[in-house]
Amino acid sequence: MIRTINLTKIFGTLTAVDHLDLEINEGDIFGFIGPNGAGKTTTIKMLATLIRPTDGYAEICGFNVLRDVDDVKRVIGYMPDFFGVYDDMKVWEYLDFFAAAYRIQSSRRAQIINDVLELTDLTGKRDDYVESLSRGMKQRLCFAKTLVHDPKVLLLDEPASGLDPRARIEFRELLKELRKMGKTILISSHILTELSDFCNTIGIVERGKLLVAGAVDDITRNLQGTRVIEIKVKGDVQRAVDILNSKDGVRSVEPDGDEICVNIDFELEDPSVLMEALIAGGVKVTGFSEKEVNLEDIFMRITKGAVQ
Ligand SMILES: Nc1ncnc2c1ncn2[C@@H]1O[C@H](COP(=O)(O)OP(=O)(O)OP(=O)(O)O)[C@@H](O)[C@H]1O
Ligand SMILES: [Mg+2]
Repeated sequence: MIRTINLTKIFGTLTAVDHLDLEINEGDIFGFIGPNGAGKTTTIKMLATLIRPTDGYAEICGFNVLRDVDDVKRVIGYMPDFFGVYDDMKVWEYLDFFAAAYRIQSSRRAQIINDVLELTDLTGKRDDYVESLSRGMKQRLCFAKTLVHDPKVLLLDEPASGLDPRARIEFRELLKELRKMGKTILISSHILTELSDFCNTIGIVERGKLLVAGAVDDITRNLQGTRVIEIKVKGDVQRAVDILNSKDGVRSVEPDGDEICVNIDFELEDPSVLMEALIAGGVKVTGFSEKEVNLEDIFMRITKGAVQ
């Protein structure tokens, strides 16, 4: 659905996006991650046909972003990182304006506006002026606008940055809904823990270069090499350590008080065999869990903190 080949943008002497190759498939939610100045917004703007690439190629749903500008605009919903202010316009008028710009017939607009207001929880603000909305509400309105023409591909540039915790959780659910509806979503964000919850693929950029891209699980696997199981026991910790050390697939066992951190191979399909072995050996197990994949760890390991 989204493909870039050697996509490059140079501003003066600065290469903001440096030969970027991306491939995002239908139904993917792709998390676009990178430190400030990495080139995320620049990339998204090129995909949205708002700025011209210096070099390289990009297409969305098979439409070339340089040649088929109108087609690209029809299939994408673009949400910018900053929301422009529209004075003297009510919320519904704002949406109506964009719906009209997308050439949606006036007879269908009222229903669509109601639907997107409902979806973004703004129904109660329908007749308020846009400039009177809070930042988070403006952001939601902007998201509502992104959906009016029912686009196949959503390009969202830090869409959740101004939302309160409840709105964020709701936003996450909304994205999952949209994914179920078959939309393809590219979302940039700094809130990594949030991304790991709903993105199936990610790409990490730094200084305009793509450092790594692919399925979240594959990336963690490649980087981490092992999985970590955290076990809590009551009583004889040493006995537990001995049992764990004797099991196949266990790489290392690190006790710390009554907690034991076990590194296991990825090939060990079902870590519950460790639990069974401990219980069979008479150890009382009070906690047993696999450490969650942590995008923050991945991000810190891959990026060097170099700011453009
Ligand atoms: N219009 C412009 N003219 C000159 N330089 C620009 C322009 N737009 C962006 N840049 C530069 O390009 C680089 C990439 O910026 P970009 O906004 O794409 O980063 P970003 O990854 O979106 O960062 P952030 O996380 O802060 O939003 C930065 O060094 C920025 O200063
Ligand atoms: Mg940005």
